Amino acid sequence: MGMIFETHAHYNDEAFQEDREEIFAQLPGKGIGRVVNIASDLQSIGECLDLAHRYPFMYCALGIHPSDCAPLTDELLEEIRGKLSDPRVVAVGEIGLDYYWDTPDRAIQKHWFEEQLEMARRAGLPVVIHSRDAAQDTMQLMRTHRAEEIGGVVHCYSYSLEMAREFVKMGFYIGIGGVVTFKNARKLKEVAQGIPIDNIVLETDSPYLAPVPFRGKRNSSLYLPYVAEAIARLKGMSTQEVIDRTEQNALRLYRLDQKKPG
Ligand code: NI
Repeated sequence: MGMIFETHAHYNDEAFQEDREEIFAQLPGKGIGRVVNIASDLQSIGECLDLAHRYPFMYCALGIHPSDCAPLTDELLEEIRGKLSDPRVVAVGEIGLDYYWDTPDRAIQKHWFEEQLEMARRAGLPVVIHSRDAAQDTMQLMRTHRAEEIGGVVHCYSYSLEMAREFVKMGFYIGIGGVVTFKNARKLKEVAQGIPIDNIVLETDSPYLAPVPFRGKRNSSLYLPYVAEAIARLKGMSTQEVIDRTEQNALRLYRLDQKKPG
């Protein structure tokens, strides 16, 4: 019997300052196995590495979020590149485009998205993509950089089923979290139903986007059973089957099926 694989969390966030340890201690009891902690800005790079070294169940992705990419320079990117060979690093992320907050300028966001896609390719790592209100440009840059050869996940997926099928065709996984439990999340429910279970991975984006019945509260991986349950209902599968299949998917996504444990 598998355990839940949490593919996207931010435990370095100050929201977990007080009780990070207590949450981690409860994970196995709630059926949560591995966790990938995702960097978003320069400061979080070191914090994510540190956490991934401290806890055997935790891995990390290193990269700069589009909304935080303004301070990036070639030198800083070189520094990040140097850390990618660390055995606890399983991906480059989160990287992408965010036209919802729409800052910094789109040209700057695109530039660093492209640079980080190529960084991932050279490091032989998959990418964790953040894309909000920017479906067309995201897809276009992914095609330009032959992202199908890089691989990865579109996290916190928020686009249409048609678009999801395009990402799946490129071999990408679709990250689904608490939003799928929201009553008004018709589009995401359609996506969960419409794409193969083999392309879905579970995520929280903690501390954000807690599932019902905790909507609006601080999120943590402890709530992932609610997400697995919602997907199971949509797909007419048992919750355990969703947990098992998405765990296998996440192991493939982060290529932990090829790595020795530890
Ligand atoms: Ni995130």
